[in-house]
Amino acid sequence: MRSVSIIGTGLTKFGEHWKKSFREMIAEAGSAALNETSIDGKQIQAVYGGCMASGRLVGQEHVGALIADQLGLNPIPATRCEAACASGGVALRCGYLAIASGMYDVVAVGGVEKMTEVSSENVSTALGGAGDQEWELFFGATFPAIYALMARSHMAEFGTTEEQMAACAVKNHKNACHNPFAQFQKEITVEQVLKSGYVASPLKLLDCSPVTDGAAVVLLCASEIAKKYNPEPIEILASAQASDSLALAQRKNLWEISATKIAMRDALNQSHIERSKIKVAEVHDCFTIAELMAIEDLGFFEKGKGGIATQNGETQINGKISINTSGGLKAKGHPVGATGVAQAIEICHQLRNNAGKRQVAGAEYGLAHNVGGSGATAVVHILKRL
Ligand code: COA
Repeated sequence: MRSVSIIGTGLTKFGEHWKKSFREMIAEAGSAALNETSIDGKQIQAVYGGCMASGRLVGQEHVGALIADQLGLNPIPATRCEAACASGGVALRCGYLAIASGMYDVVAVGGVEKMTEVSSENVSTALGGAGDQEWELFFGATFPAIYALMARSHMAEFGTTEEQMAACAVKNHKNACHNPFAQFQKEITVEQVLKSGYVASPLKLLDCSPVTDGAAVVLLCASEIAKKYNPEPIEILASAQASDSLALAQRKNLWEISATKIAMRDALNQSHIERSKIKVAEVHDCFTIAELMAIEDLGFFEKGKGGIATQNGETQINGKISINTSGGLKAKGHPVGATGVAQAIEICHQLRNNAGKRQVAGAEYGLAHNVGGSGATAVVHILKRL
């Protein structure tokens, strides 16, 4: 396997884009990524695009080919990767494998979703398809309800509180204030979270990630040639993925995501580094309880202690480990197909020391953790400056 590096990163602002089409967002993120490198678009040999539900959300399928077409890359092979909210992470892994295997030297990886064109009800139904349609969505269990069940189970097992979950939202909104690409650049308080209306008890409006439009693109190339195109490439030390049952009912318990634990174990084995070396991580906080479970399942905190650690400030910028410096899905926004790619981009900024006011001091290694559905897919990437 060859070493693979990220040489270009590009994002659109995340939020509600009434004046930008699905394809315009792809072009904007793609040209930003190209502008970070000296690479010529003609050198790109393949495209992998993460997208979850464009058919239901904007009526557009065949997104792999659309990305290649929109970026002016025809006739190279273009493939859509779909793994619900982990579509972007899986696309990144496909691009990584294509170069690591020796098949290509340079590939583009994109992620895109435009979610605000349809009603909240239709978005919820489209997202609900990431769970088990027959056993969950059919009975009305949309994602806030599914994660609410996980939250109740975590509360019963470990004593996690609504205040601890609220502390997670407060931290992520604070971080997003320093991210010009974030959807919500405003601080909130624990009291505001606790008073925001219940969506699915115990989860309230301000415990939820929002509905978001956005696109993200990274350019990957073989590490041996990376410095030709960018003086500060970021190496992908590990790319690991694991699966689990779609339906919660078939899980051993509801208070952990076992696919995350397995992907993390494999990523650490691949990277040959100690977990303690990782000082910054973007984790999948589609709901506040998801962040608390993620920091435990990734092994940064003991099981059941994620809530108290968050409340104690251990996950804030320059805490024991800086979690979701970008604002996370909660405040940066969650355009589902783009999220996994955008998480890797935040880690690139951190490792290049150009994250501005949200910069973590001395971060040498970073991690991106992307989850599909309620944990049926988990992807973990570990990055380091080349
Ligand atoms: N966090 C903070 N503010 C939010 C928000 C969120 N998650 N969602 C909406 N808002 C704000 C809006 O900006 C708007 O503010 P304004 O009145 O000042 O403009 C207000 O709340 C109402 O917004 P609206 O779009 O009408 O909310 P909604 O009730 O239709 O949707 C949710 C709210 C929580 C149901 C929706 O954001 C949601 O479904 N989130 C979960 C998405 C999801 O499941 N993703 C996949 C996870 S696996």
